[in-house]
Amino acid sequence: MRLVVSIGGSVLAPELDPDRVAAYADALDRLAAEGCETGAVVGGGGVAREYITTARELGGNEVELDELGIGTTRLNARLLIAALGDAAAPAPATAYDEAATALRRGEIPVMGGMTPGQTTDAVAVALAEFVDADLLVFATSADGVYDADPDSHRDATRFGEVSPAELVDVVLPMSRDAGASAPVDLLAAKLIDRAGIRAVVLDGTDPDAVVDAALHGDHTGTNVVPEGGTDPAAWTEER
Ligand code: UTP
Repeated sequence: MRLVVSIGGSVLAPELDPDRVAAYADALDRLAAEGCETGAVVGGGGVAREYITTARELGGNEVELDELGIGTTRLNARLLIAALGDAAAPAPATAYDEAATALRRGEIPVMGGMTPGQTTDAVAVALAEFVDADLLVFATSADGVYDADPDSHRDATRFGEVSPAELVDVVLPMSRDAGASAPVDLLAAKLIDRAGIRAVVLDGTDPDAVVDAALHGDHTGTNVVPEGGTDPAAWTEER
């Protein structure tokens, strides 16, 4: 099956820990060994936020700050590439067709950010659509999609499954409230809805969770299932 994994920066590199990055690389290697053609998209995490905050205090405009963020995501992408060695394309892809070409060559393309005004969530969806992925896994610091921001609403409940349109509805108010952190950004949700992409949002702290979700559909996060969507064929074949 064809897979895109979006790895949040705070999941891959909350601090610079080689073991953590190596564990993610190992998970991607195991997926490859099981026949998954996988593309990875890496976020910026705390390091991006530090750069952005500092540059904002220095008077940088929002596009400048986004460019700093993109630079940070590509640094994190290079960490994952270093850990993957020959299995990965040697540099972060800076265009979707470049990533698709690497995938066809049998390499794991790793991307960071692309365009100001969005986050790597949207990059991951665009890559998933571009390569016609069977599944997109968001390995985030949230353990799924809730009906309200769980940080500020104690009674927030987690969805087992949402449609892409419901995902847009859930994420929309969170994107308006300063400080609320949506599990997936609004543009990404809209692109999922537009393309009808099958996705999973899960806690990516343990990279094994990504492997279990991708190979068997087993996870404790939230499934995003387009109308009329079916399980990836690889899951059905083994049952
Ligand atoms: P992230 O994708 O890590 O953003 O990109 P995030 O969602 O804020 O981070 P997490 O998930 O909470 O860890 C970091 C920053 O890089 C810029 C944005 O400023 C973003 O906040 N960026 C990233 C872009 O401008 N365009 C992109 O395509 C990607």
